[in-house]
Amino acid sequence: MIKFGIMALHLNSENKYVNEIASRAASFGIECFRFIPSQINPVTMLVTGHRYDTERSRWNAAEFPIPDILYDRCFYGDDRHSKQCIPIVSWLKNNPDITFLGYGLPNKLEIYEVLASSPLAPYLPASKPVSLPEEVLNELKRHRKIILKPVNGSGGNGIYYLEVQKEGILAKTEKQGNQVNYLFSIKSKLSRWLESLLTKKKFLVQPYLQLTDDQDRPFDVRVLLQKDANGHWLERGRGIRTGKKDGILSNLSAGGVAAPFRAWVDKVDPSLKNFICEELDELLVKIPAVLEDSFMPLFELGVDIGITKDGAVWILDLNSKPGRKVILQSLPHLQEELFSAPLLYAKKIGSAVQKERKRYNEKTLSN
Ligand SMILES: Nc1ncnc2c1ncn2[C@@H]1O[C@H](COP(=O)(O)OP(=O)(O)O)[C@@H](O)[C@H]1O
Ligand SMILES: [Mg+2]
Repeated sequence: MIKFGIMALHLNSENKYVNEIASRAASFGIECFRFIPSQINPVTMLVTGHRYDTERSRWNAAEFPIPDILYDRCFYGDDRHSKQCIPIVSWLKNNPDITFLGYGLPNKLEIYEVLASSPLAPYLPASKPVSLPEEVLNELKRHRKIILKPVNGSGGNGIYYLEVQKEGILAKTEKQGNQVNYLFSIKSKLSRWLESLLTKKKFLVQPYLQLTDDQDRPFDVRVLLQKDANGHWLERGRGIRTGKKDGILSNLSAGGVAAPFRAWVDKVDPSLKNFICEELDELLVKIPAVLEDSFMPLFELGVDIGITKDGAVWILDLNSKPGRKVILQSLPHLQEELFSAPLLYAKKIGSAVQKERKRYNEKTLSN
């Protein structure tokens, strides 16, 4: 039996998703575990976590060796627990006896640097690292409207929109789904505010793109790409995320709502519709290939794509630990497929690992 471990920072994180996977595991010949990286005993190399009991449909506390195949669902923040788990996960990734379903991606800037020298370059908003207020002010002078985002951010957290206005510089952000605006009429105040922001985290700056619908709501296309049972990339589904009127974010965690892609695209002017769909299809085939050429293997990807009114398509964000909410809400019939996908792919890599080990054992038998 393949031993499959779901790793997260909390034992009950993504409970529904994890339970759906676990309840299907046995039918694929897979034993399912869940644990927190910091619960590995460095001396015994045993993990304290949960083992799924298929007969009783429940998790039992247990101690077990680190499972052979790991599904990394750790979402890090700036807290101590995250800082404790990051080096453990990176140590696990370097352990040749353990295989990760996907090995994750580096931060937004590192991804940008790789994509910017690939055929995907024309689809990327120009991104620059910024650490000084003057750098931000220069970009503002050039573009008038810019976006500042943390290079390690997710869920729309810590993203700022800055705009040159007559009365000064407007800074907009969204906190817990609420819009917060500041108007800086005195340059030194803006510089001080930027200074304190930029010393807290690493940021990148991008020109602001008008990615809004006809009701002035920001929206984007969220696509879920995954590997199938043969390890081939496929698109599971795409949906539209729409944020609040006059807002800057379309993330669901920032209060956005999900809708089917079809319903949106069918309302687009037919000539533009064909162009957008062709561009999207082409991009979505290229993205995983370009990423896996430069980084480690992946199992899934959440792709955020912005579309302007004139049909220009922009790659905004690539997530190696995507959520499933947009797809489940807009295409609920995909539920079964989504819950078995990690198991089918685990089975594929599990049997490849077993074959490799068998070959190695046979080769080394006589030595
Ligand atoms: N350059 C940009 N211009 C306009 N809107 C943007 C820009 N970059 C991001 N956004 C909006 O902000 C959202 C979050 O940005 P993203 O880069 O995906 O960061 P996160 O990792 O926090 O999701 C996007 O989904 C989009 O709605
Ligand atoms: Mg995003």
